[in-house]
Amino acid sequence: MKICTVVGTRPNFVKVAPILSATRQYPELTWTLVHTGQHYDHSMSGSFFEDLKIPDPEINLNVGSSPAAIQTAEIMRRLALSLASDHPDLILVVGDVNSTLAAALVGAKMRIPVAHVEAGLRSFDRAMPEEINRILTDAVSDYCFTTEPSANDNLTREGIAPERIHYVGNVMIDALFRFRERAGATSTILERLGLRARDFAVLTLHRPSNVDDSQALTSTLSAIACIQGDLPVIFPVHPRTQERLDALPEFVRRGAGLTLTEPLPYHDFVQLMAHAVCVLTDSGGIQEETTALGIPCLTLRTTTERPITVTQGTNRIVGNESERVAAAWAEIRRGEWPRGQRPELWDGRSAERIVKVLVSHGNH
Ligand code: UD1
Repeated sequence: MKICTVVGTRPNFVKVAPILSATRQYPELTWTLVHTGQHYDHSMSGSFFEDLKIPDPEINLNVGSSPAAIQTAEIMRRLALSLASDHPDLILVVGDVNSTLAAALVGAKMRIPVAHVEAGLRSFDRAMPEEINRILTDAVSDYCFTTEPSANDNLTREGIAPERIHYVGNVMIDALFRFRERAGATSTILERLGLRARDFAVLTLHRPSNVDDSQALTSTLSAIACIQGDLPVIFPVHPRTQERLDALPEFVRRGAGLTLTEPLPYHDFVQLMAHAVCVLTDSGGIQEETTALGIPCLTLRTTTERPITVTQGTNRIVGNESERVAAAWAEIRRGEWPRGQRPELWDGRSAERIVKVLVSHGNH
């Protein structure tokens, strides 16, 4: 069975690492790794391949940045051309980014079966580009691998046949468990930033709804100012966000008093999360990683597509209003934040389950 695995962005690299390593037990599986080039800076791409021990991709489509529709179309065009001469038996995609949808559509159009890892998550907010990517990718996928029961329910409601749904757990947590120790042994990020464990918070922001509009970005930064007054807030800045920050008046950026860094490599970021008092974020994956680590997470959005991180984990959806962030922060300081529990099947073995399903179906 020849599997073509397509990745394009930071969170894709994290999710695919344990899957590629699980395939090594099965000599009957061969795979080609295709990088779309959606993320291309060393800090957004190459450093993740190094930290996660992912082999160099066989093919790089080098699409780079462009408006979403053009980027998606360009990935489709380049991927279809590259698969024309070398037809795989399956295309495997992960997550919800433009590269995910583009590759899934190529599979559907070329009549190549598609496997979607992290299927079924829904924020029910179609203004999020990722929500469109999720719905459409699932609609054309032959295998929907899910991380939590809400995803199974969403897929069932959308008419996906039960035999296409496989509840396997969370590959991002596989990667976290696999690399957490190594991160602790090799990362020097705490020393480099002069931080003591449990004496700082971490912030990440990159959703268009939070950063593209300067009003929203200013509100979010002022909402977290109450935390900054108590302890350092480390803010590794995504390139999209950096552009928007640069456009804000100096006093807004300085007023927030944040410690800004470049986007961090995987090991450094895991080390920061694992030793933080809390994490503030608008990312999807970080809501899950903090739940697995038992670290309080304040999600600076009004929705989540990962409700299990709230019902069972350490996540709370606080939006970007100062009062809600301040109330949550006060609870954390008083030690009243729930410790949460790790969701079922977030046990570090999800990638093995995925590969097992693919191998057993491939043998039929
Ligand atoms: C993308 C995903 C988002 C995911 C995020 C993870 C979509 C719709 N969005 O958002 O779901 O959470 O990746 O990081 O696919 N840029 C660089 N260097 C790079 C990559 C991007 O400078 O290596 C800059 C470019 O100016 C680009 C901007 O960042 O225009 C945004 O990049 P893009 O890949 O379009 O979206 P993300 O915001 O990264």
